[in-house]
Amino acid sequence: MKGVVLAGGTGSRLYPLTKITNKHLLPVYDKPMIFYPIEMLVEAGIRDILIVTGGRNAGDFLRLLGNGKQFGLSHLNYTYQEGEGGIAEALSLAEHFADGQRICVVLGDNLIEGSIRGAVEEFLRQPRGARILLKEVPDAERFGVAEIRGDRIVGIEEKPKHPKSRYAVTGIYMYDNTVFDKIRRLVPSARGELEITDVNNMYIQEGTMTFSFLEGWWTDAGTFDSLLRAANLVAEQRRRQREKAAAHSGESPGRL
Ligand code: G1P
Repeated sequence: MKGVVLAGGTGSRLYPLTKITNKHLLPVYDKPMIFYPIEMLVEAGIRDILIVTGGRNAGDFLRLLGNGKQFGLSHLNYTYQEGEGGIAEALSLAEHFADGQRICVVLGDNLIEGSIRGAVEEFLRQPRGARILLKEVPDAERFGVAEIRGDRIVGIEEKPKHPKSRYAVTGIYMYDNTVFDKIRRLVPSARGELEITDVNNMYIQEGTMTFSFLEGWWTDAGTFDSLLRAANLVAEQRRRQREKAAAHSGESPGRL
């Protein structure tokens, strides 16, 4: 399975932080934001990765990430999104890269504490279709929200005023190769974009959408509050890792 990190967009909700640079190059505690989704894919065993970016800072990604050596990769792929057509439009640019294989798509501003490896393995056992990762949140109206009946997902609403559940659809999606035909059938939403939620609802209507619940914390980082939250969550995780390492070696953890 191949991986796709979507790192385009204007980052308008973070203006003026994003006036000069791309949202995904901003720091989240001790690393640039884009490092986290790449590490997530690599940890899950996905080594063939495409970065989709756009705007004026596309060259900065190449300078920052190179061939992915710092992630243990020998190669990274890049493509360029012209304009602001939405997440699904950005994903359509991955068709050539996917080359008939299944893909795991991660939004470049999504960070997790745990691992997606189990969900990836489950998806590979599925004969076809898609799989999304859900997380219970207190502010579901900020996200795509899944309606679940029994063990089935019956629909997703994008940023509903009155969410039908507390299950946010995280920005981690697994698709078979029919995703590109589905994107071709999309019509732009009220905000003029091709919505990933519409793609997911096509899979639901077709009866081939499955889901997993994400373990550990999950956050996006596309608003001031969620960017701060992401940095605090990572800082806390690093602190715990240092404590654990120190406990193992019998040394003091040093300055925390
Ligand atoms: C996007 C998706 C939304 C999803 C979210 C996860 O929203 O449209 O369904 O829940 O990512 O981060 P955006 O952050 O682009 O507003």
